[in-house]
Amino acid sequence: MVASSMDVLVALCKRRGFIYPSSSVYGGLAGMYDFGPMGVELKNNLKASWWQSMVYDRDDIEGLDSTILMSRTVLQHSGHESTFTDPLVDCRNCKARMRADFIVNNECIYCKSTDLTEARDFNLMFATTVGPVVNDENRAYLRPETAQGIFMNFKNILDSQAPKIPFGIAQIGKAFRNEITPRNFIFRVREFEQMELEFFVMPGDDEKWHQYWIENRYQWWLDQGLSPDRLHQCDQEKDELAHYSKRTVDFLYDYPHGQDELEGIANRTDYDLGSHTKEQSSLNIQANVKDNTDSTQRLAIKHPDRNEWVVPYVIEPSCGVDRGVLAVLCEAFDEETLANGQIRTVMRLKPHLAPVKFAVIPIAKNNPVIMKCAKSITQKLRSQLGKKVVLENTGNIGKAYRRHDEVGTPFCITVDFDTIAADDATDPGTVTVRDRDSMQQIRVPLEDIERVANELLSGGIEAFAQVK
Ligand code: GAP
Repeated sequence: MVASSMDVLVALCKRRGFIYPSSSVYGGLAGMYDFGPMGVELKNNLKASWWQSMVYDRDDIEGLDSTILMSRTVLQHSGHESTFTDPLVDCRNCKARMRADFIVNNECIYCKSTDLTEARDFNLMFATTVGPVVNDENRAYLRPETAQGIFMNFKNILDSQAPKIPFGIAQIGKAFRNEITPRNFIFRVREFEQMELEFFVMPGDDEKWHQYWIENRYQWWLDQGLSPDRLHQCDQEKDELAHYSKRTVDFLYDYPHGQDELEGIANRTDYDLGSHTKEQSSLNIQANVKDNTDSTQRLAIKHPDRNEWVVPYVIEPSCGVDRGVLAVLCEAFDEETLANGQIRTVMRLKPHLAPVKFAVIPIAKNNPVIMKCAKSITQKLRSQLGKKVVLENTGNIGKAYRRHDEVGTPFCITVDFDTIAADDATDPGTVTVRDRDSMQQIRVPLEDIERVANELLSGGIEAFAQVK
């Protein structure tokens, strides 16, 4: 089972500390969400998994962290100032504003009135001023995509790291869009995070690499737990393509609100590097370059065999972290009816994504020996794993299991009287390890708990039965 309704998921996310509306003390701020103690762990784990596969597991991709505020000039030459717009319509009846392409039967999506204005273009970028003087010259934008920071650093990375083409630059960071109609929880928000790779290839090799990244990224999402039944690939129609794209393949996920975009993998051609290149007239290239007199660097490489400059083509897998978190949560959500008729809610997250890896639960909170033992196990696992291990101190084991099922903790370790009863090596104390998904329990000698913990986490839930 997956989350069938967004409301159920929203309630769980608030109840268990995953996600809250932003500025909620004062009624909230539309299209903005804060990630609570469980949410930030899940999000960090998803980002770490992406970074691992992009930067640490390969030697052809470098990482980057560029600024959120960007010079207006960058976003003029990237085409965002002129073309990054959505068609906007006002309802004359309820005064709501909405995206024209969300309207069905010419009806307001809020009050159903048909008294709507004509559509007009609305730029989605948030503008601000750098320095004390408010004028056009000092205008800057909060970046609408992290990609432009990568293009700005293309030359720096080329000069400092000397990568050989094909190579990529990966970045995870905030992006901002003044969405006309933020909606569907964290699906369409105004402040979000992106995980973007710009992979630079020789013109002519672009289609082959595009296909490579489509397959690579699809497998990565399956490895995060998404089911192939709910993750679809779809070629964007020509009239849907962004201004820079030759071809874009979207991954669509079956969210509770319907099938919608999770990631786009675009062939951005040489559009951006070409646009940002100043001395294009002196380059021996057939690139889509514009007359930009204020960009300061030649964003091209020397052809490996010929004495000429080439503007690389760019393949860009780009996904939203927030949409990824939402998809992973939807997929992991499950409700099952137990033998006693009770409903158990459980988040079947992959262990590497789970916010908490182990919960250590002392069976009696007022027993100092049990508490001491539980604290010692917690400390050992924390220092060994370097991951979040929680000491549950409520004294209510049923409540602790329920809570950790709902946040997706793969394993609970219970310290009980058998743990502390042992008095010699022939009768070692044991703890109970409970598997989240099957609720199966095994007893593990206390002295083995660190080894077993490692095997459980690295082997996943499936390894549970094999652990001795
Ligand atoms: N650099 C290319 C780019 O930004 P995009 O399709 O506009 O392309 C990439 O955005 C990804 O960013 C989307 O697939 C989506 O996951 C995420 N995204 C875009 N707008 C979003 C929004 N308003 N809220 C949450 N995520 C968003």
